[in-house]
Parts: sequence; C-alpha cells; structure tokens
Amino acid sequence: MKKKVVFVTFGVAVAVFLGIQAIPVPRTNPPVDSDISAPPEVKAILRTSCYDCHSNETAWPWYSHVAPVSWLVARDTIVGREHMNFSIWNQYIPEQQADLVAGSLRRIKRGSMPPWFYTIKHTDGKITPQKLAILEAWAAKFQN
Ligand code: HEC
Repeated sequence: MKKKVVFVTFGVAVAVFLGIQAIPVPRTNPPVDSDISAPPEVKAILRTSCYDCHSNETAWPWYSHVAPVSWLVARDTIVGREHMNFSIWNQYIPEQQADLVAGSLRRIKRGSMPPWFYTIKHTDGKITPQKLAILEAWAAKFQN
C-alpha cells in the first residue's frame, strides 16, 4: 500500500514536471540599439556580471530551458532589462545614465547586484575588490 502511494506520487510529480515544460517561456534577445561606452576593462566586468539580465545580449544556458527554473531566469531578464538595459543606453537621457551608473555602484557595494543566486553558476560574475576598484574609479568620472 505504502509503495503504491510513493509510486503514484512520483508519477504525478513526473507528469507535472513534463507538463510545465510545455508552457512557453519568453527567451528573446531583441536587437542591440546602442551600447554603453566604457573602457574595455570596465566593459568586461559589466558584460560578465550584468549583461545577462541588463542587456539584449543574454546568454540562455541549458537550465534556462527547464521549467520552473526557466521562469525565474526569464522573469529576471525581463524585469532587469526594464530597470536598466545597456542595449538601449542612448535612449536614456544623460541624467538617467548618471543615476543608473551611481545606482549600479551602490547596489554592487551593498552586495545586491549581481544577485547572490546568479553567482552560484556564474562564479566569474562575482565583483571582487579589484573589480570594484576599477568600477569605482570609472563611476567617479562618469559623465555622458
Ligand atoms: C540575475 C539577473 C541580474 C543580474 C546578473 C544583475 N541584475 Fe541588476 N537587476 C536585476 C533585476 C531583476 C532588477 C530589478 C529588481 C530590483 O530592483 O532588484 C535589477 C535592478 C538593478 C538596478 C536598479 C535600476 C533602477 O534604477 O531601477 C541596478 C542599478 C542594477 N540592477 C545594476 C546591476 C549591475 C551593475 C549588475 C552587474 C554588476 C547587475 N545589476 C546584475 C537583475 C539582475
């Protein structure tokens, strides 16, 4: 009897897992309209740590194709792009650009960007003290 319950529960779980894979997930990379201009060492950091959620050049890894993780990844990308999108950089007015750069520094220092779960898989996305120093020097002079 107990065995049967386990078996049925497992079967239902597998069916649900397979079923949710059929739900469409928006994984789009719209064209890049413009891009933030920054020195190569700064750009490299932003690309490695931020572009997956804050640009139209998102890399969609295999787990971004497996629900329910795919839903979380897609949501982060949609919401992240809404808040700041380096691929439409020239559509922001200079004040917005300056705010976004200052806000980025604040969030990096606070440790909220990149989000902790992002760096579990993307260990190279962590902002080390050396990388922070590079970003700080750049942000201090930022004007556009
Ligand atoms: C895993 C996806 C992800 C990554 C990687 C990521 N962000 Fe974000 N970011 C988000 C999401 C989602 C939001 C909106 C929700 C919030 O404010 O927390 C956001 C919001 C922001 C905002 C607020 C913009 C505003 O004023 O509305 C800034 C600034 C920011 N991120 C900077 C960065 C920087 C800089 C990096 C890289 C060092 C980075 N983020 C990496 C997902 C991400």
